[in-house]
Amino acid sequence: MSAMNQAPREQGVFITFEGPDGSGKTTQIARLAEWLRSAGTEPVLLRQPGSTGLGERIRATLLDSRSEGTIAPLTELALMFADRAQSIHEIILPALTDGRTVLCDRYTDSSEAYQGAGRGLGTERVLALHRALCDGLQPRLTVLLLPDVDAALDRARLRNLHAREANGSDENRFEAEGEAFYRRVHQAYAAIAQREPERVHMVGDGDIETVAARVRAIVQQRFPALMHSVAGV
Ligand code: TYD
Repeated sequence: MSAMNQAPREQGVFITFEGPDGSGKTTQIARLAEWLRSAGTEPVLLRQPGSTGLGERIRATLLDSRSEGTIAPLTELALMFADRAQSIHEIILPALTDGRTVLCDRYTDSSEAYQGAGRGLGTERVLALHRALCDGLQPRLTVLLLPDVDAALDRARLRNLHAREANGSDENRFEAEGEAFYRRVHQAYAAIAQREPERVHMVGDGDIETVAARVRAIVQQRFPALMHSVAGV
């Protein structure tokens, strides 16, 4: 069995959402979940890092250490995979074994883009950890929301400006990480999509409804059996 394919022991469909910060993943996952429910499929939703008890503690630690600047890149990578291994064990595998549809906000591609490329740790190291710790579990479909890089950076700057004007704080990680980091993340995502065109479907810029319709079309085309009763798709 190839580590890049979902193992046959799981009956459910595993779908991940990926993209740089500010790409609108969270909104699009909610939209797809809503649509699946209307089609008679109740999905299991989770985010990484997070979602398990341990995962939420890892998430809080990561976000604190990041803002304090105290976390070493390799530690960050290790914690991302610790979180992932736990959510595979506690949530993803049991749900797939039960035949459920799982929608996951970020997975190993995020580690490849952020730690591998962004922090410069390299793709190979990330993929080796994936093989070692993720039980060969790869999504059947990854929806990659990849906006035009310059437009996204412009939007991020604008959001930062508004946030600073509104509450004096700089909540946006673009500025904390820097533009070069964001560009490396973006480029890594594009490379992953090129490397694995079967799994990764890239969805470009558009308003929320346009993107949601594109995502639905991909899911419907890939998994027609999930659409038990959807009308007017
Ligand atoms: P989050 O607030 O969930 O961001 P978003 O809403 O954009 O998904 O924070 C998750 C952050 O963690 C985000 O900056 C990406 C980062 N991350 C990694 O660096 N590596 C990983 O493996 C994962 C899963 C997330």
